[in-house]
Amino acid sequence: MSKEYARTLITSALPYANGPVHIGHLAGVYVPADIYARYLRLKGEEVLFIGGSDEHGVPIALKAKAEGISPQEVVDRYHTIIKKSFEDFGITFDIYSRTSSAIHHKTAADFFRKLYDKGEFIEKTSEQYYDEEAKQFLADRYITGTCPHCGNERAYGDQCEACGTSLSPLDLINPKSAVSGSIPVLKETKHWYLPLDKHEAWLKKWILEDHKEWKSNVYGQCKSWLDMGLQPRAVSRDLDWGISVPVEGAEGKVLYVWFDAPIGYISNTIEACSNNPVKYGDWEKWWKDESTKLVHFIGKDNIVFHCIVFPSMLKADGSYILPDNVPANEFLNLEGDKISTSRNWAVWLHEYLEEFPGKQDVLRYVLTANAPETKDNDFTWKDFQARNNNELVAIFGNFVNRALVLTHKYFDGKTPARGELTEYDRQTLAEFSQVKKELENYLDHYRFRDALKEAMNLARIGNKYLADTEPWKTAKTDMERTATVLNIALQITANLAIAFEPFLPFTSNKIKQLINKKEELKWNELGSVDILEAGHLINPPELLFEKIEDEAIEKQVQKLQDSKKANELKEHKAAPVKTDIAFDDFTKLDIRVGKVLECTKVPKADKLLQFKIDDGLGGRTILSGIAQHYQPEELVGKNVCFIANLAPRKIKGIESQGMILSAENADGTLAIVHPAREVQPGSEVK
Ligand code: 2FM
Ligand code: ZN
Repeated sequence: MSKEYARTLITSALPYANGPVHIGHLAGVYVPADIYARYLRLKGEEVLFIGGSDEHGVPIALKAKAEGISPQEVVDRYHTIIKKSFEDFGITFDIYSRTSSAIHHKTAADFFRKLYDKGEFIEKTSEQYYDEEAKQFLADRYITGTCPHCGNERAYGDQCEACGTSLSPLDLINPKSAVSGSIPVLKETKHWYLPLDKHEAWLKKWILEDHKEWKSNVYGQCKSWLDMGLQPRAVSRDLDWGISVPVEGAEGKVLYVWFDAPIGYISNTIEACSNNPVKYGDWEKWWKDESTKLVHFIGKDNIVFHCIVFPSMLKADGSYILPDNVPANEFLNLEGDKISTSRNWAVWLHEYLEEFPGKQDVLRYVLTANAPETKDNDFTWKDFQARNNNELVAIFGNFVNRALVLTHKYFDGKTPARGELTEYDRQTLAEFSQVKKELENYLDHYRFRDALKEAMNLARIGNKYLADTEPWKTAKTDMERTATVLNIALQITANLAIAFEPFLPFTSNKIKQLINKKEELKWNELGSVDILEAGHLINPPELLFEKIEDEAIEKQVQKLQDSKKANELKEHKAAPVKTDIAFDDFTKLDIRVGKVLECTKVPKADKLLQFKIDDGLGGRTILSGIAQHYQPEELVGKNVCFIANLAPRKIKGIESQGMILSAENADGTLAIVHPAREVQPGSEVK
């Protein structure tokens, strides 16, 4: 269903302010939302682009507790970091606010109160888990246990991150309090529920019949929720961090974070409009006028909240519009593994910029070219390097640079006048005039990967044009022809500044500066060959992109490997103790200390080292599978412990007379056991 709208309200999921933002956030939500907002603005449309931090919820309260600071201090810290990362990456929010603001607390409380007064909630008393030690109810992530679906022992009370299933605390097997570690008891408590079942009929029609054009991942998820049948959902929690439930008899209760967070889109609109009424007008026109197109950019884990729960809240109020589309993305993985804040398996945006200063557009490019639009995708540093070197440098940068350098060389930096066009020129122009239509088609349908490919196609057209027309050759015989070719090349360069503005805004600005274009370029000029007038002076050339060398990439891969190793060590659980043995069994083992006299690699055996040991009894040979963990020379002269009475065994034709003791680390590395003091060779270990 396509409809003519007067303006577009774009929202992007409010990230939790309990950690910095990473490439998964950027690829899934903020880059696509920003591309869309920039595109519409460039077309001259009225747009309001909302962002902000989601500052309530249990993870924030838990983090504050773990660090011994207040939840407000946690959100203040991360709100600042997140906001700066978005600014640094050129995400053009009209407002980036936060849900701990006074305006949001009031908006969310008023919203609840209106629904409460209209009788849109059910009040229900039920038994919920309670931590008697910490004296608090355990909602959501305050409780952990085993997932009944996949057996993951670290599932949360609201979701299992291993299999993605939504859970309620009562679903968990062996529940445990995340606050004190104690086993919780059941206790009665009262809460307010939004009866989603009451909304099911209109939701079914609205989504399944009227919005068949939604992305298949979004439509499919909604359909499966609706097919399963909707249940009432609690919109309050027993917590001390959040927005107090604004009714009598609700002491100690706050709004559920997923009730207040989407209202953040509304409160941030109110804040933007009150900060700048001339620019944005009255907030109600953005939320209550049917000619506003509302689009929510989110990740797939947020689909149910934005397509079912929040629309039901808006409908229950009765005065709001509903989203026209919810172009949710799937997830971006990193080097084959799920991005995880707690396991530090991520590329953090603020760290990326320290390592690759000024290269925001490279990341924006790679994340869009490889965006998880229809399925989960993988980010790898090798792909990042290849896309930069083979696409941005070799195609885009190369074309623009050649156009500028040749104009300086043959025309002193002045845009030459176009003479008569050849058939080939006409073909090229016809091809590039198609780009606008194609781009619009993709952008209007939230197909940003394809749109970027189309923009890149323009650079390919330019490259091919220069390669085929060879102005450096015609300059020897025919300056008029050279002028025509370079005029067209410069017009294509100006077109690239427009086509890439939504995707690579920093590069687009740099092109504008290089071609000395001071006035705003408009979307409508895309396809025009009259953007630069004959005689227009351009600036000296500079490279748009630079090659990324192998060392820079290897450094990033190493950083991730180090992080994985550190995490494995942190997560390591000691193996369970074996069955008891009698003391006599132990005394049967003859463990001794010996000094390493010689140590060499065993030929044709990757893992084996051959030791000559002074055992105080004339010496012996022992083979040990430790070659991948030690250089032989570092062990010579060291005391080691070995089992002296293990029956001798031939390995690779050599008799091994015992076994050297080593400990296995969590990451599988081996460490030889040494006595803590100097002892005589042959001493018994007891
Ligand atoms: O998943 C998340 O990160 C949530 N903080 C998104 C909230 S979106 C909206 F409702 F605010
Ligand atoms: Zn599970």
